[in-house]
Amino acid sequence: MNNQNKVEGFEISINNKSKRIIDLYLKDEFIEKLIFPFKRFDITALEYKPFTRFTLAKNLDDLTQNKLSKLVNLVLKDRDTGCFLLKTNNENKKIDDKFLVKLSTAVTHLIGIPNHDSMTGKYYARFFVKHEDDSDSYLRKAYVNMDLHTDGTYVNEITDWILMTKIEEKNVKGGETALLHLDDLENLKELSEDPMGRQNFIWGSPKSKKVEYNVEHPVFKKDEKGNINISYIDQFPEPQNIDQGIFLQKLSDALEESDNKIVLEIPVGSSVVANNHFWLHGRKSFVQNKDLFRELLRIRGRFN
Ligand SMILES: [Fe+2]
Repeated sequence: MNNQNKVEGFEISINNKSKRIIDLYLKDEFIEKLIFPFKRFDITALEYKPFTRFTLAKNLDDLTQNKLSKLVNLVLKDRDTGCFLLKTNNENKKIDDKFLVKLSTAVTHLIGIPNHDSMTGKYYARFFVKHEDDSDSYLRKAYVNMDLHTDGTYVNEITDWILMTKIEEKNVKGGETALLHLDDLENLKELSEDPMGRQNFIWGSPKSKKVEYNVEHPVFKKDEKGNINISYIDQFPEPQNIDQGIFLQKLSDALEESDNKIVLEIPVGSSVVANNHFWLHGRKSFVQNKDLFRELLRIRGRFN
């Protein structure tokens, strides 16, 4: 990173597992400066009055002389990177769940506008992963691998980016985050040039997602620069014939067998923010523990 990318209050570095991921560490002294502006709005205000989310974002950006918004947009839109980790000191007692909701809100509103999260009926979703689960999707199933996927495959809205923040965890072993940049998928060319990959698939979703309709779109699409984008998750396409089924199986195997998957342990108080068109994300299974507990926050949305 060059000098232009210096942002007051942040330590910026390249992630030690991937040069495509930028680490942004918020120093404790900067957290201190956020306490006062963050106190101005409670969570209910943020939920009920959308403009307060932008006020929060502006407060955050102003403290960096508006350099943070430039940097995060640059990183997310750059095909070579497209992902950053927002890290905090997890020993800092002033960082609690409410602070993290506010920080995540502020950062996402520097990037764009969140989509309505149908699962919770809010602009964000907080959810748990525990030992026991009776849900109908892989999101909360602790002991199975959540395969690499993108978000928003089954909704009408565009999902340009996703943010996932780890709010809390206890008794956790395993459950690491898996990430893959699409350009690092070994047989991307073959898969994306397969006519099946450009054909419309039907995408539905289980009840818990509270999305009543189906959508149709292909797995691969080219953007205006000719780069290949992906919109894919294993659970939600509804293949209509053997050819479509076989194609999805081939893609699923290629993703899960890729040697270029990045596996990260995200500490409590940190967020992963990624471009959802060319980064896939997933989660490794957890080690069995009846007291297992993890709370996550997600926000997904579009660019301005
Ligand atoms: Fe996801």
